[in-house]
Amino acid sequence: MSGIICRASPSLAVIKYWGKQDRDLNIPATSSLAVTLDGLFTETKVKSGNFTEDRITVNGVRQQPERYAGVFACLRSLLGSENRFEAESSNNFPTSAGLASSSSGFAALVCACALTAGRKISVKQLSETARIGSASAARAVYGGFTALEAGACFAETIAAADFWPELRVVVAVTEEAQKALSSRDGMLRSSASPYYPAWLDSSKDIFPRAVAALKHKDLPELGRLCRLSTYRMHAAALSADPPILYWTPRTLALIQECGRMRRKGIGAWETMDAGPQVKILCLSDDTAVISNALRRSCPGIRIIVSRPGGGPQWRYAGENEDEMRPLREAE
Ligand code: PMV
Repeated sequence: MSGIICRASPSLAVIKYWGKQDRDLNIPATSSLAVTLDGLFTETKVKSGNFTEDRITVNGVRQQPERYAGVFACLRSLLGSENRFEAESSNNFPTSAGLASSSSGFAALVCACALTAGRKISVKQLSETARIGSASAARAVYGGFTALEAGACFAETIAAADFWPELRVVVAVTEEAQKALSSRDGMLRSSASPYYPAWLDSSKDIFPRAVAALKHKDLPELGRLCRLSTYRMHAAALSADPPILYWTPRTLALIQECGRMRRKGIGAWETMDAGPQVKILCLSDDTAVISNALRRSCPGIRIIVSRPGGGPQWRYAGENEDEMRPLREAE
C-alpha cells in the first residue's frame, strides 16, 4: 500500500477533560491541559482513492466504521474531495488501556489523510477535525503543552515541547489489556452523577491555576492541581450509577507509593485516566528513584519514562523511518 505515513504521540491530560457539552459535536464540558508524550506513538498509513468505502484497521483489527464516519466526512468536506480512505494504524504502546491512544490515533489519522490529499489544511482545522473522533486528539495534533478549553472546537498550544526540558512523565503500565468501559461511555454515565455539576465547577477553578503553574514551571503546584483534577474526575465516575471504577489493586499500590515518596520530599505527582495505568509527573533527576520505588511496590509493571514530545511527523510510504518530517502549519 503506497501513500502517507504519519506518527503522532499521545496527549496526556494533566488537567482532565471529562464530560461533553455537546455530545453530537463532541465538544468538551471541561477545559483540559496536556503534555505530549515523547517515545510513545501511533503510526498510521493512509492512501486515498476511488474506493467503495472507508476502511481502517488498528493493530491489524478492522474497526467499526461508525466511530470514524464523522471524521472522514469532515475531511472530505475540507479537502473538497469525494475520495475514500484506507488506513492501517498501529500503536507502540497499549491500545485503549487509559494511555490516550485515541488522542494519538485520531491525530495521526487526520494528519495522514490530509497529507494524502495534498491539500493545505491548517493545524487548527486538523485539530477541529480530530476532535470529532476524540476530543483529546484535538490536542495531539500539536506537540508540547496544549489546552482544549470547555466549549472549544479546537485546541491551542500553551508552550513548545522544549519549554520545560527537565519535566518527565513516568508511565507505569499496570495492565496491557483494553479497558472494559470506554471514555465516551464513562463520561456519559458520569454526567448523571450528583457530583458531576461539582466536577464541572471545580475544573473551572483548577484549569487557569494549572496553566499559570505550568508557565512558572512550578511542579509542586502543577502536581497538586493535577491530582485534584484526577481525583475529582474519578469521583464523578465513582459516584455514577452504576459506579465506574477504572483502578486495580496495582493502581492503588502505585498511588500509595507516590504518597510515600512525596512524604520523603520526592516530587512524584500521580495521575490516572480512564484505565488502571498510573502516570507520574516529576523532574528528570528523580526518574531513577521513582521508577525503582514503583517497581519495588508493584513487581511486574512496565515503566516508560517520557519527556515532553513534539508534534506529528510524516513520511511517504516506502521512505525510511529516518526521513520523518515535522507537520508544518498549512502543510
Ligand atoms: O478523548 P477521549 O474521548 O479519549 O477522552 C479522554 C479522556 C481522558 O483521557 C480521561 C482525559 C483527557 O483529557 O485526555
